[in-house]
Amino acid sequence: ALPLIIDTDTGSDDAVALLLAAASGLGDVRAVTTVAGNVPVAVAARNALISLETAGRTDVPVHLGCGGPMLRAASDATEVHGEDGMGDTGLPDPRTAPRDGHAVEALLSHAHRHPGELTLVTLAPLTNIAAALLIDPELFTRFRHVYCMAGAADLTGNVSPTAEFNVWADPEAARIVTRAATADKVTWIGWDVSRKDAVMHPADQQRLAELGTPMATFAHRINRTVAEFARTVTGLAGYDLPDPIAMAVALDPGLVTEQERAYVEISLADETRGQMVIDRRLVAPPANLTLVRRVDEAGFKKLLFDTVAAPDRR
Ligand code: BDR
Ligand code: CA
Repeated sequence: ALPLIIDTDTGSDDAVALLLAAASGLGDVRAVTTVAGNVPVAVAARNALISLETAGRTDVPVHLGCGGPMLRAASDATEVHGEDGMGDTGLPDPRTAPRDGHAVEALLSHAHRHPGELTLVTLAPLTNIAAALLIDPELFTRFRHVYCMAGAADLTGNVSPTAEFNVWADPEAARIVTRAATADKVTWIGWDVSRKDAVMHPADQQRLAELGTPMATFAHRINRTVAEFARTVTGLAGYDLPDPIAMAVALDPGLVTEQERAYVEISLADETRGQMVIDRRLVAPPANLTLVRRVDEAGFKKLLFDTVAAPDRR
């Protein structure tokens, strides 16, 4: 199984991604680092512990990280994911607690102890990663690969006309990340991929609701507010799963059906805050990101349903 470090602002779709990482058999979660984003960092850590426990992993160290973006005011997404980030279904407290040691220290120490071995998957604003890069500019070379749920390569955003939440929330951090990245090491899976290839259509939602296993029921319930938001605000019959599709690509890169390499800069201008400026000119600087554009939807859903159909692991 793939040794993983996961950076997350655990809300409902992060939680499903954690199930994939911890219970699909494809991942070996070594540590989870948390950051403010969907919810405040302490809530993200609580939700990460609950999700890992649901997947039968009470041994994974979970660390608290940065409590807000580098320069910008913190902005959560509780209107989408619920006040608790998990659909407000009254989840009981986790049996385990976060470990000592800041998330940024944990990221650095794992990467240094296992050079070239670990895969980093980020599902959140990039604050912890940028902070770690300021301490160790060579950080990315120490990972086997880095996958980020970040951006919108088709320039259709979810928090602004052109920006995706994880990049928009901390655009300075995202810029530090893209400037340190190289396309052979860092892959972004954006909002566009999720909207195309990771939509939970009504039939998928029903299937999840009816499976009856603890992980399926958990995944269904915590996405309650997301499903409602999709229906009432965006007018879509299905909600999508950005973090799980990014995790699926990390666990099984063979799921990717279309990708490109490009030089990407992150806009810090007010009107286009967090927009990806993708340089596709022939004279562009060397590509710093691999941008996944399409994923095998059926393969993704098979991985998702096979994972959550497993019997009780708690
Ligand atoms: C991203 O923002 C959060 O709402 C999701 O968890 C995902 O990481 C999508 O824009
Ligand atoms: Ca997330």
